[in-house]
Amino acid sequence: MTIILDGKKSAHLIIENIKKKTANLKEKPGLAVILANNNPASRIYVGTKEKKAKEVGFNSYVYKFDENTGNEQIIELIKKLNEDSKVQGILVQLPLFSHLSESKIIESIDPKKDVDGFHPINVGKLNLGLDFCPIPCTPKGIIRLLKDYQISLEGKNAVVIGRSNIVGKPMAALLLKESATVTIAHSKTKDLPIITKKADIIISATGIPHLIKENFVQTGAIVVDVGIIKNKEGKIIGDVDFSEVSKKASYITPTPGGVGPMTIASLLDNTLELYLRSLE
Ligand SMILES: NC(=O)c1ccc[n+]([C@@H]2O[C@H](COP(=O)([O-])OP(=O)(O)OC[C@H]3O[C@@H](n4cnc5c(N)ncnc54)[C@H](OP(=O)(O)O)[C@@H]3O)[C@@H](O)[C@H]2O)c1
Repeated sequence: MTIILDGKKSAHLIIENIKKKTANLKEKPGLAVILANNNPASRIYVGTKEKKAKEVGFNSYVYKFDENTGNEQIIELIKKLNEDSKVQGILVQLPLFSHLSESKIIESIDPKKDVDGFHPINVGKLNLGLDFCPIPCTPKGIIRLLKDYQISLEGKNAVVIGRSNIVGKPMAALLLKESATVTIAHSKTKDLPIITKKADIIISATGIPHLIKENFVQTGAIVVDVGIIKNKEGKIIGDVDFSEVSKKASYITPTPGGVGPMTIASLLDNTLELYLRSLE
C-alpha cells in the first residue's frame, strides 16, 4: 500500500499551533519580504507568504522593487530592517533581477533575522551542526513531514537530486544530521536511475518535469517531490511522474499538496522562532 505524505494536513497542524502561540504574545512577530524581480511565480509566492503571515497573526511587510533598482537601495532597506524592532524575519525572494548580487544582498541581512537561513553564517552553522540557526524552509518542511509520518531516517540510503543552495545542499546537510547515508546528484551525474534505484529515500529538486519515472525507483522507496513546474495546460506538476512512481513507492508526496505547504509552514515557524529568540 502506498501512503500519501499529505503536506497540506501536516502544514495545517503546524500553522494552527503557530496561531495559538502567536495569540498569546504581547507583540506580533514581523516578517519582511523583499521582491526584486518580475517573475510571475515569485509574485504569487510573495503574495502567499504575505497572506499566510497575516493569517497566523504576524505583521507582514512586503517591499517591491523594479528593474531600475541597484544593490545599494536593497541593502539600504535591509540595514533599516536589521535595526527595526518590529521585524524579526527578513526574506529576500529569489531569484533577483539578474543585474543584482544575490550574495551581497543576502550577506547584508542580520543572521539573527535571516528567516530563510541563507546567510553564510547560518549555512556554516547548519553544516557544522553548531547551536541554533534558522533552517532553510523547504528542507526543514520535508524533514518535519517525514517525521510526522514516523519515518526514521537513521541509516537510510538517501539520494538528493539537485544541489542548489536553497534546497539540495541544505537538504543533504539535514539528512546527514539525521544519520542518513547521503548521495547528492545533479545535472552532470551519470546513470542517475542506477543511483536512485538503490535509494531508500529519493528527494528530487530539479524543476525537470516528470524526470523521475518508475524505472528510477525501487519497490518500497520513499519519494519526495520538491519540483514545481507549470505544464502546457497550466497545471502544476513536479519532478516525479506520480502516476507511475506511486505504484512502487511506500510513501510519496503529491504535487501540489506535498512539499509546498510545508515550506510555507516552516517559514512561519522560523519567523516565530526568531521572534522568541529576539526576546532572550
Ligand atoms: N515545493 C517548494 O516549496 C519548493 C521550494 C523551492 C523550490 N521548489 C522547486 O524545486 C525545483 C528546484 O528548485 P531549486 O531552486 O533547487 O532549482 P535550481 O537552483 O534550478 O537547481 C536545480 C538543480 O537540479 C539539478 N538538475 C537539473 N537537471 C537535472 C537532471 N536532468 N538530473 C539531475 N539533476 C538535475 C541542477 O544541477 P546543476 O547544479 O548541475 O545545474 C541543480 O542542482 C524547482 O522546480 C523549484 O520551483 C519548490
